[in-house]
Amino acid sequence: MKTLSLGLDFGTSNTACSLFDGSKEIDLGRICAPSPSALYFFSESDKAPLSGRGAVSEYYSGKSKGRLLLGIKSLLSDASFEETTIFGEEYTCSQLISILLHRVRADVEAKTGQPIERVVLGRPVRFAGDNDELALERLKLAARLAGFKKIDFEFEPVAAALSVDGLDYGGIGVVCDLGGGTSDFTVVKMPSGPSVSGALEREEVLGTAGFGEAGNRIDGDFVYEKICPLLGRDSTFSSWGTTKNMPPQIHVRFSDKERVPFLKSEGMLDLVKRIAHTSDSPDQLRLMEEILERNLGHRIHKSAESVKIGIETEGAAEFHEHFNSGSIDVGISKGDYYKFIEGYTKKVRSSLENLVDDCGLQLSDIDSVLMTGGTSLLRPVNVLMSELFPSAHVIGDRVFDRVAYGLGRIASNS
Ligand SMILES: Nc1ncnc2c1ncn2[C@@H]1O[C@H](COP(=O)(O)OP(=O)(O)OP(=O)(O)O)[C@@H](O)[C@H]1O
Ligand SMILES: [Mg+2]
Repeated sequence: MKTLSLGLDFGTSNTACSLFDGSKEIDLGRICAPSPSALYFFSESDKAPLSGRGAVSEYYSGKSKGRLLLGIKSLLSDASFEETTIFGEEYTCSQLISILLHRVRADVEAKTGQPIERVVLGRPVRFAGDNDELALERLKLAARLAGFKKIDFEFEPVAAALSVDGLDYGGIGVVCDLGGGTSDFTVVKMPSGPSVSGALEREEVLGTAGFGEAGNRIDGDFVYEKICPLLGRDSTFSSWGTTKNMPPQIHVRFSDKERVPFLKSEGMLDLVKRIAHTSDSPDQLRLMEEILERNLGHRIHKSAESVKIGIETEGAAEFHEHFNSGSIDVGISKGDYYKFIEGYTKKVRSSLENLVDDCGLQLSDIDSVLMTGGTSLLRPVNVLMSELFPSAHVIGDRVFDRVAYGLGRIASNS
């Protein structure tokens, strides 16, 4: 029996994989297609957690009591996150991630009827949180716990670059992989003719760079700047006759998508309840209390994401969420939204300028730009690319599964 090797892109928002038989990709349908990097734990501990699409739909169906975890990849480099208790069970970060990776492995094995022991996993150039050593160690442990025996890593933007056939475009290329948690870049030299596999070779990579922020941070900043002021962020309360400001950690953590499910167990709900009695904005705190109590924080982040995605189709976008204790309504114009994400596009610009410079090149030396990852769909990012590389050929297809495709190709070639 032939040993198959899996390419697995465990992303902050979505997970996708690909499997090759020689140089041909094996079509595994929905198993390999991008699905949310989500876990759902039922409050009844005898029910096994759900992962992927099933996890998200269970949470939004409201049919069961449970907890949805999103963005768990961002926890990898958080040294303060050692373990968490979910309905009485303790989990380390690696154990949580292994549930998701194991599900993928088991599904691929069931579909192919063959054991999958080798995996090439994607890794960002810089993990969100920037503690790369810890993150890699934890990710490797997660893969081992998921049953993989031989585990290799490849930079995500390099995998994206290696997914492209050298003949498709020539000269020097830049790859921008802008995802949910991280923004990653690589500069590659395209071969002048076809390579043996038809794909770019690893030696053609001239340099990599990246930073630990992307689409989720944009949504989190929107939540912090536009929604949190309606949830008591700037309120005061009295304590023993003195007026105090709202403790900042509540709203700072609430604005981090991956932190949302842990706020209740971290004592934030109790804190809000205590403060609400003497608050100058009791209605806002009661709303915050309800959101924390009923674990509805993900709905807020999801709506913030919908504003971002919807802003292109409409001239403006509305954030609207209704709860028992009140509603949140915020409108934003396209122009204001674009201003709002300027901080992010500036970081993308300086990362790219520095990387090209570090490779001993000028921006005008770049012949092609490969855009991948969901955040690459943002219009201001595309405008930036045409400013930086006005005459470059831009490729932007397979935004959500290009990295997985490249990883599968690498796995089958090594
Ligand atoms: N049409 C769109 N416009 C802008 N952003 C989008 C769009 N569609 C999805 N996104 C954003 O793309 C991000 C997810 O992209 P992707 O699936 O590539 O990330 P990921 O691979 O899971 O994350 P990472 O590579 O950072 O670990 C999310 O932040 C999502 O909000
Ligand atoms: Mg990605």
